[in-house]
Amino acid sequence: MWLSLEDYLKKINENSKLYYEFNENILEVSVDILPLDFKELFKNDNKVLKFEIGFGNGDSLIKLARQNPDINYFGIDRKMDRIRTTLSKLNYSDNIPNLIISRFGTDYLLEMIPEGIFDEIIMNFPDPWPKVKHHKNRTVSEEFLTVLHRLLKNNGVFRFSSDHAEYSFEVIDIFDRSELFSNLYHPDQYKSEVNNRIETQFEKHKKREGFTIHHMKYLKM
Ligand SMILES: C[S@@+](CC[C@H](N)C(=O)[O-])C[C@H]1O[C@@H](n2cnc3c(N)ncnc32)[C@H](O)[C@@H]1O
Repeated sequence: MWLSLEDYLKKINENSKLYYEFNENILEVSVDILPLDFKELFKNDNKVLKFEIGFGNGDSLIKLARQNPDINYFGIDRKMDRIRTTLSKLNYSDNIPNLIISRFGTDYLLEMIPEGIFDEIIMNFPDPWPKVKHHKNRTVSEEFLTVLHRLLKNNGVFRFSSDHAEYSFEVIDIFDRSELFSNLYHPDQYKSEVNNRIETQFEKHKKREGFTIHHMKYLKM
């Protein structure tokens, strides 16, 4: 069912108020604060802004924000249970002034976020929708690549990691065919290990099961 941006935001905020009230790290998005003004939202002077799509249980995003207090992190996830899990961690931790999370998906990014704003966009282990008839639900597509390109600053970077070989090669193919990005791991198509990487929950889990991990890194041209 198609929803207007206003109805979409109303729907996702409907049952979330209680969780939002008690935590400063979560931002409830409504149409009247769009497009999001990150300079205003983050009460600090950090110049670098990174964006994670689908942070899951929040472990790696929280660690990243703690380890890099001079970088601002904005994370979104569309599922309430992921928001709840992440908030429960934040509620038991000291304030993290360089982290804001929000509950929404990727449907209206260009309506919600100003262009040319992120230094880095991160997608870790997005749902692979393995059945052919569900491939249309995959987040990364040719069209989405143009959204990423518009949201990134010049020389901004997109990082993608997945254990799912077929989805990974589809993404590699989409980026290979585009002139909007160049592959920073060239001549490799992907790396299976990246130094000093903070592993996500899914990554640990999939590595234990013996899956090869595909890490990609693309530069906005
Ligand atoms: C397989 S989990 C991976 C979670 C985490 N990144 C990790 O590596 O442990 C995928 C996550 O992405 C979220 N997600 C999937 N599609 C999304 C979208 N279009 N926008 C925002 N979040 C999305 C899901 O709710 C889920 O939390």
